[in-house]
Order: sequence, then C-alpha cells, then structure tokens
Amino acid sequence: MRDLGVIEGGCLASREGKIVFAGNRADFERDVSLADDAVILEGTDRVVVPGFVDAHTHLAFAGSRHEEFALRLDGHSYEEIAARGGGILSTVRATRAAIPEELGESLLRRLDRMLLHGTTTCEAKSGYGLTLESELALLRLVDEAATAHPMTVLGTLLGAHALPPEYRGDRDGYVTLVAERMIPAAAAAGFASFCDVFCERSAFTVAEARRIFAAGAAHGLAPRVHADQLSDFGAANLAAEIGATAADHLDHVGDDGIRALAAAGVPAGLLPGATFCLKSTRHAPARRLVEAGASIYLATDLNPGTSRTESMQEILALGVLLMDLSVEEAIAAATVNAAASLGLADRIGGLVPGMNADFLVLDIPHYLHLVYHFGVNHVATVVKDGRVVVEQGGLSGEENGGEDVL
Ligand code: NIG
Ligand code: FE
Repeated sequence: MRDLGVIEGGCLASREGKIVFAGNRADFERDVSLADDAVILEGTDRVVVPGFVDAHTHLAFAGSRHEEFALRLDGHSYEEIAARGGGILSTVRATRAAIPEELGESLLRRLDRMLLHGTTTCEAKSGYGLTLESELALLRLVDEAATAHPMTVLGTLLGAHALPPEYRGDRDGYVTLVAERMIPAAAAAGFASFCDVFCERSAFTVAEARRIFAAGAAHGLAPRVHADQLSDFGAANLAAEIGATAADHLDHVGDDGIRALAAAGVPAGLLPGATFCLKSTRHAPARRLVEAGASIYLATDLNPGTSRTESMQEILALGVLLMDLSVEEAIAAATVNAAASLGLADRIGGLVPGMNADFLVLDIPHYLHLVYHFGVNHVATVVKDGRVVVEQGGLSGEENGGEDVL
C-alpha cells in the first residue's frame, strides 16, 4: 500500500471506456495512435488518480438530523439520543413518509455531489425503511438512480439496521422478517448485491446477525457487517467466521478480532467521518490492522446521523490525520482496496490497461496535496467509463459559462 506506482510526467489513454495505455510519455508517443476525434486532457502540473470508491454509504434517506447534531455538541450521546426515539428511528420516520416522492431526487443530488468530489463508484445501503415494502422501495430507488447516473452504484440490503417500533417486544419476529422475506425479495428483484447487519448492543446480536447472513448466503447476497462500532461485541470475529466482504467501523475491535480479520482476509472498513462527527477519540486501530496484515479501506459512511459528508477527499484527510495512515495508504485504501471489498478489483480502482477508465484529474502539483491542502475540492475533471462527466472551471468567465458542468 505504500507504493502507488507513481509515474512522473505520465500519459493515460482510454478507448471505449477502458484504459488502453498507462505509462511514460516516450512509450505513449511510440505505442499509441490517437484517433482523429480523441479528447485530449492536459494534466501538466496536475495529478491523475483512479476515481474514488466509497464502499460504505447510507445513501437512501430523507430528512435531516441537524438538531440531534446540536444536542450532541451540547454533550448528549449518540446512544442516549437513539434510546429516546431519535437516531436511526427518526430518519426511519422521515424516510417512510418520503418514499418515493422526494427520495429519488435527493439520491441523485447526493450522487452528483459525490461525483463532483471524485467518487466514481459507491455502495448504497437501505436501512431507513425497516418494512418489507419500504426496504425494497429504497433499493429500487438506488437501482433507478444507478441507471440514471454515471456512477457505478451497488446496493446493499440493511434491513437489520434497527428494530422498528412496531416490533418492540418481538425481536425474533423482525429477524425472521429480514431473513425469510426481505432477503429473498431483494435478491429476486436483483436490486442488491450485499446484505448488512448493524451488529451492536443497541441493534442486533451476533446470533441474530449469523441467522440473517445465513439467509443472505442462501440467496446470493454477500455479507458486509457494521462491526464493533460502539463496543467490542464479537462482530469482527463473526465477519471473519463467515468470510464477509467487509467488517466496517471497528472503533472498539480487540486484538482477537483484528487477528481474525487478517487471517480470514476480510477487508476492514475504516470510517473516520463517523468518529470525527461523533467527536469520539476512539478511532479504529488502523495501524494495528495494517500491521496484522488486514486489508483496509476508507469510506464516508455517508448518513444523516453520524457522517453527513459525500467527500472522500475529506475522509482521506481524516484517515491520515486521525488514524495515522500515510497518504499513500489512504489513496490505496480509497481506491483499489475499496474496489476489492466490493468484488470489483479486476476493473475498478487502478490505472492499468484493461480496467475501466474511471479517473480524476486533480488540480494539485503532488498527490501529497490531497491531504496537506485539506478541506477543499481538488477535482478538476472526472472521467467515468472513458467519458468526461465533470469539468470544474474557474470562478466565472467565458471559458466555462461560469458554471460547473455535469
Ligand atoms: O454507520 N451504525 C449504524 N449506522 C450508521 C448510523 C446511522 C444513523 O445514525 O442514522 C453508521 O454510523
Ligand atoms: Fe454505516
């Protein structure tokens, strides 16, 4: 992860959506004949990187929790607010009321913002409907947004995000609904690639998660786990045991869980936006995970409660400055490693001939500026599947009509 394979003064060429050349200028001039209608992007004094892959988002939600955010700033904890009916359940109320009218539009606006900040592939979870119909409706909206939008979007059923109020006192009934009805229906509709469980003392137990993931496996939905976010709950060990495609959060994972993830080759998802936004000083042990040999990736965890950001650039900065990753590790974690956790490593996350031409031209003189010069958007151009989909101009003027074009 420390060797990004940087090519100084390099050239990149794509044809029909795939990269056909990545290397130095002399080889480019010798080997590549440009088509008459070739689009040339100048990258002098700029940096080209793969498009970011955001492999953990809760994209499909309605409403806003800015008032809870203010309560947290006043000293109330996330779990305390949730226990009072706020938290995830307040977004469930807003989301149930909003399906499908405003939701599709808000999904597309979030995808736009992600793309403008350089994310070209993402995962998107349901989890704010918590009925069979509403969870499927959310995944359908994700599927429609994916079709309408240039980004690659993979859906995840997160029916087991919280126990909905109508099942209070009947946990088993709800777990049965997720395992026996939501999973088969989501798989049959073709709207989801993965299923996820929030495995935590305030959400679902390890035994409940095991049952849901067994149903997922039977229907071809690969497991991803919200693991050990608020306590050392044994969820990382479960992720290792079932060979999950992701064990995410891990703020409280213990040595045993770290060893298990590394041994099982389960990707560890680091979500520093959530710890940052919760003002927690307990970050996932990124260094210990890397040293143990685990594959780590970075993601936004975009959601209305704990990480309200679409920007992977921000997450890179937090991964480096709060979790002690190197900038090189953070870039690998936000691209190739994240793509691997989504099962896309053969085509997404690298600048290699044969892979998708998904890349960014960044208006920075060195890749270290991605973190050193933090808090602003460095994306000048986004290319997705070989097409320019974002071109950010200057402040105003003739050249770009004064607008960002998408
Ligand atoms: O990943 N941990 C569970 N789910 C989200 C938070 C969801 C919410 O607060 O709405 C997370 O942090
Ligand atoms: Fe999450």
